[in-house]
Order: sequence, then structure tokens, then C-alpha cells
Amino acid sequence: MASTSYFALVPAAGGGARMGAECPKQYLPLAGRPLIRHALATLCAVALVERVYVVLAPDDTFWPEAEFTDLAAKLRVLRCGGATRAESVANGLRAMAGIVAADDWVLVHDAARACLTVDHVETLIRTVGNDAVGGILAVPVADTVKREAYGRIAATVPRDSLWQAQTPQMFRHRMLATALAAAPSVTDEASAVEALGLKPKLVAADTTNLKVTYPFDLHLAEWILANRK
Ligand code: CTP
Ligand code: MG
Repeated sequence: MASTSYFALVPAAGGGARMGAECPKQYLPLAGRPLIRHALATLCAVALVERVYVVLAPDDTFWPEAEFTDLAAKLRVLRCGGATRAESVANGLRAMAGIVAADDWVLVHDAARACLTVDHVETLIRTVGNDAVGGILAVPVADTVKREAYGRIAATVPRDSLWQAQTPQMFRHRMLATALAAAPSVTDEASAVEALGLKPKLVAADTTNLKVTYPFDLHLAEWILANRK
């Protein structure tokens, strides 16, 4: 079998409604750079990752081209974002199709997970690189989990087998494109692959790989980036 290559696909076409800022959250300043620069720089720094595709909204006027000149060798901008995250990913996969082979790995990563490290990515690649299905970074749920009904606790859900999904989520190009075409309303890639009856691998990461969603998360992310050795 020909050797497979690794590509990254970063959906960044969201509006950041929960952040409530003047611009989409991926363009807010974080540790002196636009938020989106952090994850893209990390992915470009992974030697095994051949190319990093970022999916922007077609009418995006905020993309700071000048911040990315040093990443130009690996970074490619696709202006084909859709109405949902899944649609942005599916559109990105379609745009990559000429360059990426059916069995090549695609690591889909949220632009909003700015604290991703090269080590996180290399752990995922090392653990999943020979897998038949693919896998995702995730963390075991730490809190006791309650199911709610009408403002009251309907049940306590045993947490011992519960994990919180993160990104990157790593699947082969053809499998992921097929999965998303069949399940267009999923909130992550793994759900679409699960709907095919397959069982993606869980790879333990840690809570520093948080998704910047609300204003306070910016402070957390800033602290994590500043205190990392
Ligand atoms: N995303 C995307 N296309 C969309 C919606 C989201 O590419 N139509 C991207 C976001 O830019 C982000 C990632 O998917 O990098 C995860 O989404 P989320 O954190 O929910 O970001 P937003 O959708 O922008 O935020 P919100 O849900 O608060 O509006
Ligand atoms: Mg969203």
C-alpha cells in the first residue's frame, strides 16, 4: 500500500455568537496574535502534517493575511465555509479532493481550540495512524453528570464511561466525506463516522485543549499559553 499522508482541515467560518464580540471570535486578540493564528501555527509545526487547510466564510473580511506569511509553505486558505460546522468541513473536504488521496488522513481541528500543542497532535497521529477507522482527542468527564427534565434532576448518569470530545478528529478523507454526506447535521466528525456503524478510537488529551467559546475562556486560554513550558 502506498504510504498515507496527513493533512489538517480547520473550520473557521463560524460567527462566534456565544462570545458576543464585534467580530468572529477567531479574530480576537489572544496572547498578542489573532486567536486563529495559534492552532494554525501549531498544526503547521507538526512535521508529519503536509498541509493545513483553513475554511473561511466566503464573505469573511477579517482574515489577517499578513499574520500568516511565515506559514505560507504549508497553509492554504479555502473560502468555502457553510452554514454549519459540518457543512464547512464537508465543503473543505471537497475542495481538498484534488490533492488529498482517498486514504490520506485528515485531522479536523476547531480554529477555536487555540491551546492545541504539537504533542497533542503527535499523540493522536501515533495512536491512530494504523487504525482502520480513526479517532479523536478527548478527556474523561470529571464532574458528576445529571440529566435534566423541567428544571429538576431526572437522573444521574454514570460518568465512568463518559468522555468529552475534543479536536483534532482524525479520519481518512473518503470515509469522512462519505460519513458527512450521510449525516450532515452532526456536531463533530466522529458522530458522522459512528452513524456508519464504526467505532472511532478515543485518545486521552487534557483540558488545556479547550474550545474558546465564552468571553472568560479567552482569559483561560491566555493563561494556558503564557504558563506553558
Ligand atoms: N465553524 C465553521 N462554520 C460554521 C460554524 C462553525 O467553520 N458555520 C467553526 C468555528 O469557526 C469554530 C469551530 O467550527 O472554529 C467550532 O465551532 P464553535 O466553537 O461553535 O464556533 P462558532 O460557531 O463560531 O461559535 P458559536 O456557536 O458561539 O456561534
Ligand atoms: Mg457554533
